[in-house]
Amino acid sequence: MAALTKVAYASTLLAALWVGICSSVCVEVPSETEAVQGSRMKLLCISCMKREEVSANTLVKWFYKPKGGQDVAIYEYNNEKRELESPFQGRLEWNGSADMQDVSISVLNISLNDSGIYTCNVTREFLFETHRPIFTSSTLIHLTVVEDAGKDVTSFISAIMMYILLVFLTLWLLIEMIYCYRKVSKAEETAQENATNYLAIPVGDEFAPECHLQQRSPADSRTKKSLQPD
Ligand SMILES: *[C@@H]1O[C@H](CO)[C@@H](O)[C@H](O)[C@H]1NC(C)=O
Ligand SMILES: *[C@@H]1O[C@H](CO)[C@@H](O)[C@H](O)[C@H]1NC(C)=O
Ligand SMILES: *[C@@H]1O[C@H](CO)[C@@H](O)[C@H](O)[C@H]1NC(C)=O
Ligand SMILES: *[C@@H]1O[C@H](CO)[C@@H](O)[C@H](O)[C@H]1NC(C)=O
Repeated sequence: MAALTKVAYASTLLAALWVGICSSVCVEVPSETEAVQGSRMKLLCISCMKREEVSANTLVKWFYKPKGGQDVAIYEYNNEKRELESPFQGRLEWNGSADMQDVSISVLNISLNDSGIYTCNVTREFLFETHRPIFTSSTLIHLTVVEDAGKDVTSFISAIMMYILLVFLTLWLLIEMIYCYRKVSKAEETAQENATNYLAIPVGDEFAPECHLQQRSPADSRTKKSLQPD
């Protein structure tokens, strides 16, 4: 369900945005995993620093692994941006932030052939006075590149189907409610009639077993009712 993923992604983004507005807290938002052929795809990789006040050396390495293939280094940021030799050369652009918490890159003019697993490896060396601990983080992005038309048609059809289903279900619910209401009111009517009939039994009659048998015939009960004084 691509639509569902979109919704989940949008809500995560919204939550991140909200947090971002309220305080400039770093949030590790996952990357979108579907790209449209020929477009610019931002491979989002955010690696938050727990201690922003400490300066650090950050080394970023991006890898690409095609289906059934090996990891190939495609991009590196080590003090300076560098595109590595790969089928992506000339199509990659640094899209990170100055504080090196967002270390995203963008793939320009993405093709169907670019589907696969992208890995973003971040190595950080914190520069304390006495020691220099090193932290690493790794993010995987399973990217699927789709053709524009196919994707649009399926999402369009599923949206239409959803609305048709919604209208149909609402109508069905309405019909069912009317049907039930009529059934209930009819049953109530019958119950009331039965109750009147039942109350009518003792009037003018002894408690004889034949009495109940007589009650079964509607013509009889009508006569009985008409005999009743108002
Ligand atoms: C990063 O990507 C956005 C679109 O996703 C673009 O508008 C912006 O210019 C990019 N920044 C850099 C530094 O490439
Ligand atoms: C995008 O890539 C396709 C091949 O994958 C190429 O034919 C086309 O010219 C490229 N478009 C741009 C704007 O670079
Ligand atoms: C598709 O990708 C494979 C491996 O990444 C590469 O060998 C091949 O030349 C690519 N084909 C096209 C049409 O770009
Ligand atoms: C990225 O880093 C992780 C953990 O540091 C490591 O296990 C993995 O092999 C690295 N990926 C690549 C493609 O080097």
